[in-house]
Amino acid sequence: MLLSLIDLPFKLDKDNFNIFIIISFILSTLSSLLWFYNSKSNPPKPLPSKLAQNNKRKPGHWIPEDYKFPKPQPYPNWNIYDSDPIAYRPFKHKYNVTMGIRNMNPEEWIEIDNKWLEFHELKKQRLQTKGKDLYGTLPIAYDASLELLDELKNYLPERYPSMFKYNSTTGVLSNLITGEDWGTFDLKTKEIDPMFIITNLLQDDIAIMIELEDGQYYLKAGAIVLPGFWRLTDKLNMPLSEIHTSGDVPKYNTHLKKSMEKFFTRLKPETSVLRNNYFIQTDKHLDWSSSIGKESEQGVGWYTAPVATDINQIYYRSERQSLRKLPKTGAVVFTIRTYFIPIIEIVDEPYVPLRLLNGLTSWSNDVREYKGFNKFKDVLLPYLEGKAKEQEVLGYTRENEKDNFPL
Ligand code: HEM
Ligand SMILES: *[C@@H]1O[C@H](CO)[C@@H](O)[C@H](O)[C@H]1NC(C)=O
Ligand SMILES: *[C@@H]1O[C@H](CO)[C@@H](O)[C@H](O)[C@H]1NC(C)=O
Repeated sequence: MLLSLIDLPFKLDKDNFNIFIIISFILSTLSSLLWFYNSKSNPPKPLPSKLAQNNKRKPGHWIPEDYKFPKPQPYPNWNIYDSDPIAYRPFKHKYNVTMGIRNMNPEEWIEIDNKWLEFHELKKQRLQTKGKDLYGTLPIAYDASLELLDELKNYLPERYPSMFKYNSTTGVLSNLITGEDWGTFDLKTKEIDPMFIITNLLQDDIAIMIELEDGQYYLKAGAIVLPGFWRLTDKLNMPLSEIHTSGDVPKYNTHLKKSMEKFFTRLKPETSVLRNNYFIQTDKHLDWSSSIGKESEQGVGWYTAPVATDINQIYYRSERQSLRKLPKTGAVVFTIRTYFIPIIEIVDEPYVPLRLLNGLTSWSNDVREYKGFNKFKDVLLPYLEGKAKEQEVLGYTRENEKDNFPL
């Protein structure tokens, strides 16, 4: 076992496993009895998508579909120690604010790599010190959180069989790397937030968006543990538009709002999508960018950050985000996976310095404001110019660059 287990009430070891089984049995008997007495709480049976006709639904009234996500193949040649993070370099020579989404092969939903242990250790520390500030499920999203956990239980052991194992007799999902057992899938006592378990399985942060009767999607559950620049408590309960306008996301109202809302309304379980973004950070903290201010304080942002003076302070931060619609509850699951690398490392990659330099300098003023351009430009731009010149001599010029650089 590589990590010592934290002593939490729902962590199952062999001694309390039997108690767990007995309690589950009593609870499930009780709940079937309740079910019998109160047939109104009988959840509707999932229908085939065609019959459910959710494209004609009343806003906020999703009809459960019996769609099943395809079983993924095991990730090829994967192991937790040697598989490097995928090198997403989504910056282009010219920056443009767009939705920037592409279809996702459902098999590629969750990425795990050799940084998992580091992410997990940091998540554990933060969960211990900050607890429920970092995750939560509002009552309206409880079934969605459970559905997500259930999907992960189906997905992870198929995709990463050397890391996860699910025992269908006991309902326990085991992490074979850490020895953690997560065994609460049938235990609907609501004592454990499913989001706590979910965040312990993944490198990603997670947000669950629920459609209400006004047709808008609201942030109703999440585990935002390694966010860099925002906090769950800042945005919980907000609709999609307010999440973005409260943070002054550039051109949200003019370039994003309409297409994003239409996209959310029309999203189906059968079509999941991905997008990637990038930021520059002026400190080395994956979990919370300390240079913009204290995590515990309101009114922090780039405007309170000091100007960076040392290139070693500068980090490249990029998120891979996925969106998928859960068939039973109709909730939208948003995953945010962060890739975080010192800038001095990525500039050695062919074509990167020039393309990043061009990308950054093409930011419009509002994007510059939003992404802290003035706080790093004096140290980063000359450095990238120098590296781009070195590469030019070697033939890594814009003319020679192929267009299909990694997204
Ligand atoms: C198609 C879906 C979405 C698109 C196109 C989108 C787009 C964007 C863009 C362009 C930004 C600015 C940073 C960047 O360059 O990425 C941003 C920031 C952000 N987005 Fe989204 N977003 C989407 C979905 C969501 C969802 C579902 C959430 C739910 C939590 C969310 C939460 C945020 C937050 C918290 C920020 C930072 C805001 C701040 O700075 O205060 N986004 N988004
Ligand atoms: C930028 O995106 C907008 C749509 O949001 C599009 O109309 C415009 O042509 C794009 N510009 C470039 C340079 O790609
Ligand atoms: C599931 O767990 C039970 C109880 O510990 C054990 O007897 C059984 O062998 C396990 N099944 C699998 C497939 O590992």
